[in-house]
Amino acid sequence: MTKIIVDIPGEKPYDVRVESGIVSQLGETLRSFTATNHAMIITDSAVEGLYGQSVKKVLEEQGFETVLVAVPHGESAKSLEVAGEIWDAMAAIRLNRDSIIVALGGGVVGDLAGFTGSTFMRGLPIVQVPTTLLSMVDSSVGGKTAINLDAGKNLVGTFCQPRYVCADIDLLNTLPEREWICGCGEIAKSAVIDSREFFEWLNGNAKLLYERNAHVVKEAVVKCIAFKARVVVEDKAETKGVRECLNYGHTLAHAIEAAAGYGVYSHGACVAQGMRFAARLGANLVGTPLAFIAAQDELLDALALDNIEFRADPEELLRLMMSDKKVRSDSLRFVLPHDFGEWSVETVSPEIVLEHLQAWQDSLA
Ligand code: GLY
Repeated sequence: MTKIIVDIPGEKPYDVRVESGIVSQLGETLRSFTATNHAMIITDSAVEGLYGQSVKKVLEEQGFETVLVAVPHGESAKSLEVAGEIWDAMAAIRLNRDSIIVALGGGVVGDLAGFTGSTFMRGLPIVQVPTTLLSMVDSSVGGKTAINLDAGKNLVGTFCQPRYVCADIDLLNTLPEREWICGCGEIAKSAVIDSREFFEWLNGNAKLLYERNAHVVKEAVVKCIAFKARVVVEDKAETKGVRECLNYGHTLAHAIEAAAGYGVYSHGACVAQGMRFAARLGANLVGTPLAFIAAQDELLDALALDNIEFRADPEELLRLMMSDKKVRSDSLRFVLPHDFGEWSVETVSPEIVLEHLQAWQDSLA
């Protein structure tokens, strides 16, 4: 079994374990760090049918009285209304501050369970059991939690590190193709931002990752989690200019998702488009080598993260970028790659962004 310890200054260290089949040991693992008898599994309607009962059983076998709450599948569950229903359910079964919250699902479930768990009674211990490639390689680690408001995505949330992350590779076996490719987008982002070594490894294994070769999948997950752990240990609350690197490709991605309608394109596909965009912006502003752009394009193509053929008014995309919560003092900030493993965060004028958005739109046949 591979274990990565996330040891953030001022926080309780926690393990991320990566292996096939380890969810069957979840009860024993939780028992090793808690004496509580109460657990709540928060999942969604799609994951409930696949893994809900089996995870409940492994907890009950270790003496946890376990209640399972399934929220609707999809982004709409990250609402104040659904959060309120979860808090009511927590109160109704008298969870106390020792009770464990198990987030069983993808990024939406992880964010929602993390948010409700970290706020109920000022914070219950949270265990993340990611069931998508995206949540396994990124969102289950690092403690970001959130719900959405009408005014924007992830506008209300907390930083609350989980007590344990159980990354069971077998849970990915049921993942649909589109979700697989979505996760590959975040893996590509991590590789490009982390180092030339990670990029070269991924480049050499892109086909096997796309085909879900078990060894390659595990290694990709381990590499991404190790990278993310290093980043959040340095900058847990995104205040030191380090954690921002995880937003590579995300400025355009969020604008495409909002303009096209959430769910039209997967998040990872939009991130890949954002990476192509940011690299071209980088060539103009920080001297990103053309060879880097070509190599990154080739990697994204190999992972089936094709160019998004989405026609949109560049002014509208710019407006959406400006309304992102990361915008400070009306300046757009982009993570720009200088090379593999080298990047900086730059303030870019709206005029230059608009020029590049126009160039992207003009390039669509
Ligand atoms: N997913 C980006 C972060 O955790 O900061």
